[in-house]
Amino acid sequence: EKGGYDYFMLKEIAEQPQAIADTLLGRLKENGEIVLDEVRLSDQDLRDADKIFIVACGTSYHAGMVAKYAIEHWTRIPCEVELASEFRYRDPVLDRSTLVVAISQSGETMDTLMALRHAKEQKARVLAICNTNGSTIPRESDAVLYTHGGPEVAVASTKAFLTQVVACYLIGLHLAQVRGIKYADEVAAVVDQLQEMPDKLRELLAGIEPVRELARELKAAPTVLFIGRHVGFPVALEGALKLKELAYMHAEGFAAGELKHGPISLIDQGTPVVCIVPSPAGRGMLHDKIVSNIQEIRARGARTIVIAEQGDEAVTPYADHLIYVPRTPTLLAPLVTTVPLQVLACEIAAARGHDVDQPRNLAKSVTVE
Ligand code: M6R
Repeated sequence: EKGGYDYFMLKEIAEQPQAIADTLLGRLKENGEIVLDEVRLSDQDLRDADKIFIVACGTSYHAGMVAKYAIEHWTRIPCEVELASEFRYRDPVLDRSTLVVAISQSGETMDTLMALRHAKEQKARVLAICNTNGSTIPRESDAVLYTHGGPEVAVASTKAFLTQVVACYLIGLHLAQVRGIKYADEVAAVVDQLQEMPDKLRELLAGIEPVRELARELKAAPTVLFIGRHVGFPVALEGALKLKELAYMHAEGFAAGELKHGPISLIDQGTPVVCIVPSPAGRGMLHDKIVSNIQEIRARGARTIVIAEQGDEAVTPYADHLIYVPRTPTLLAPLVTTVPLQVLACEIAAARGHDVDQPRNLAKSVTVE
């Protein structure tokens, strides 16, 4: 049932191109319009939304963090992302015109469920992004967009993350269309780019072998740090989470710009730092900023593992290990840059002799608060 793979996690990583294609299936019209027929919220409700809260836990929270950049940019609606376990305990300001998006692969995560119940009590509209048909979170929500990623067995979330990001983007694009869009051309281009993602992922997975070799080299490292900016920041957090949960290693993700405000002290001779580099095209400033962050940490002894876009030569002089990913516009980059980090964590955990699919102390769905 693992389809020839050693672990469910590897099988599910390999399924990602298809999973994304399935999330998109039937939801993009020829003319670029987005159809979300399972969303039982009226266009008027969507037009009235003046604030969005995304609530989720763990990897799903990271998907929400990625989505915030796109949703705010396209819709101009303020969007906050919050850990579900914190949300209801701080008395958030919610009313009828608040849209709460609850993201959950399992649909049974108690923290997320309690957050959505709290939102509903305050009359907010709740939209679930979920992978599991008929589970509690979508049942209790006003609307649901299923990710259609297929069953995820490994405790570590992989294809769920990618499909959640895609689902959030569909919602963001739909909201932008319903509300009258400022970035009509950009939105149309994103629709095309989303459709190209399955092929890009296939290309990326076909060349993933060097990441496995790197994993063998890093298996004894006492810590691994991850840095990123903009949408690369949640990717850094996700890479670190995967390593903690599977390899039982200390790992931490940072916004690259924060390094000089404290964490740069952690960098010692040989400290591995995984650096997520955005495309030099588009938001060039972002790219240049992170290249200078990489220079800074390397000058302090870091062993740099650079994840950059194919053909990005600016990073070559500062990369001890260079992993290229297919060219992708900034907002969609997490769909490719996360994948090598999943493989890295999986292979390090395996090299350390751990049970990749069932890490200690963890359950696939966390049904207690
Ligand atoms: O089923 P959910 O998406 O609600 O689960 C949320 C988290 O428990 C989950 O993403 C967890 O962080 C994963 N094991 C991470 O790989």
